[in-house]
Amino acid sequence: MARAGGKVILFGEHGVVYGRPALAAGLSTGATAELVSEPGVLATARLSVEPWGVTVDAIAPDAGAVSAAPVDTSQLAQAFGAIVHAYEKPPALHVRVRMELPSGAGLGGSAALSVAIVRAFDEALGIERTPSEVADIALRAERVFHGNPSGVDTAMAAAGGVAVYRKGQPLAPVFVKKPIILVVGHSGEPGMTKETVASVARQHAQRPDKVEQIFAGMEAIVNNGKSALERGDLDSLGQLMELNQKLLVTLVLSTPRLEEMCTVAVKAGALGAKLTGGGGGSCMIALVSDAESGRTVREALEKLGREAFVALV
Ligand code: PMV
Repeated sequence: MARAGGKVILFGEHGVVYGRPALAAGLSTGATAELVSEPGVLATARLSVEPWGVTVDAIAPDAGAVSAAPVDTSQLAQAFGAIVHAYEKPPALHVRVRMELPSGAGLGGSAALSVAIVRAFDEALGIERTPSEVADIALRAERVFHGNPSGVDTAMAAAGGVAVYRKGQPLAPVFVKKPIILVVGHSGEPGMTKETVASVARQHAQRPDKVEQIFAGMEAIVNNGKSALERGDLDSLGQLMELNQKLLVTLVLSTPRLEEMCTVAVKAGALGAKLTGGGGGSCMIALVSDAESGRTVREALEKLGREAFVALV
């Protein structure tokens, strides 16, 4: 039995694809993986995912084009194959994963799935790896799911906690002076990470100076956010979330529904709110000062017809 958690990006999504830092926080919910066959029973590795109700056999990473749907079975088979074929001797084991996070919600569900699988295989095969080595293998599957992932999701799924991530560098853990409470709200719109990353790439190709300027602003927000967390300065954190959201809006990454959710959360008492992850749908986060405020903000989002939960960082 192995598990891994999801994550929320507090600051710096999208810039992180271009080598800028992002500040992320691990979630305790994610995915659990359990082996259900003995070695030697199967000819090839098999993956079952609940509650999706799908079972796939691993296919080789070079088996051809796959569709972009989040729970497309051929995509899942290829992502799984990317993990299996990272092993010197690909394990022919059946692994059953239980997802605790929705897929395509921008909460790192697919990275948690991949990291949990690697951990389950490693445990069965007696292989020991560092979290960053586990993340490297899981990243092969993320490339199938997301095209050009920065690696922040897999790094966070493998390590947890609160950390600054920069592509190609080890995670830098952040000391959080006091726990922070976030309300995570789902817009009900499907996750569009692959598409929004491609849209930012087009904008970057057309106006690199303008986009790099926005990324520089995001980098400053990450640095200030880190020190606000270290000081336990919730008011500054909230303001930085508002600022980060404005920069994401200039890259056309928000939606009317996400905007409405952020506005309603702040009206209900949140200190700040922003989309989290790829944008174009999926989730937003709101920072609240205490558990009671968390309940009020969650209820305000639910009144809009959105699903929401409170997470402690
Ligand atoms: O939507 P998510 O949770 O996969 O987050 C995407 C974050 C981006 O910075 C937009 C992309 C990436 O790979 O880091």
